[in-house]
Amino acid sequence: MNALDDNRPIGVFDSGVGGLTVVRALMERLPLESIVYFGDTARVPYGVKSVATIELFTGQIVDFLLRQEVKMLIVACNTMAAVALKIVTARAGDIPVLDVIEAGARAAVNVSRGGRIGVIGTPTTINSNAYARRIHALDPAARVHSQACPLFVPLVEEGWLDHPVTRLTAQEYLRPVLAEDVGSLVLGCTHYPLLKPLLRDVLRDAVKLIDSAETTAELAATRLRDAGLAASGRDPAAYHYFVTDVPLRFQTIGERFLGRSLGEVTRVDW
Ligand code: DGL
Repeated sequence: MNALDDNRPIGVFDSGVGGLTVVRALMERLPLESIVYFGDTARVPYGVKSVATIELFTGQIVDFLLRQEVKMLIVACNTMAAVALKIVTARAGDIPVLDVIEAGARAAVNVSRGGRIGVIGTPTTINSNAYARRIHALDPAARVHSQACPLFVPLVEEGWLDHPVTRLTAQEYLRPVLAEDVGSLVLGCTHYPLLKPLLRDVLRDAVKLIDSAETTAELAATRLRDAGLAASGRDPAAYHYFVTDVPLRFQTIGERFLGRSLGEVTRVDW
């Protein structure tokens, strides 16, 4: 396959099922593009693991996707984007790499230039300071207020999207961010877009929620077009999902994330 074959798939990866929020946005924005998704369901969650471990896992996933001959890599996991992006770009060579942190940072700056921006994510993402660095690179005057929300991932996986426990947890986590009077809040974790309705209730109307999945899809469309890599539509888009644990749980939870039934899901034999 050569570099001009624009019907090659886009490789999207995450620590588990959450990156399907990005796949969903891609399917809507780029319906002609095929996607190969990798979810490391046997080793999720990443958000509480060390940088060294996340780097090792990220390298393995990227190598796997490169063997699938993808034309673009999208780091859909905020935690991997926060601490292992260099591993991805080093291995990708000429293949364009996009990540949800770049997308989220751009969207936040567009909405709140010079203002106060809240960021929520996993402990590893927040401790890395990656969002603050990327936001400040785009807008040095921005004030960034970050908050780790470690309980949100298990609550979403449990399906407690509108549950009193989740509401109380959100109120507790968001209190310090709200006290800073932020104008926007970046949902800096793949799972959080599913909590949007609940978060909108908890937050004051003035706070705009930034969903990096949608911005990532928009950035992907621009990069594919500019690089001459967009799919021609000659073949219908194909979707293939690879996971590292038995597929059943991924399939069940994945349909909630994707908002439609999943196609073929294959367990990876490393
Ligand atoms: N995918 C991760 C993220 O976006 C959340 C799940 C995890 O902790 O692995 O940060």
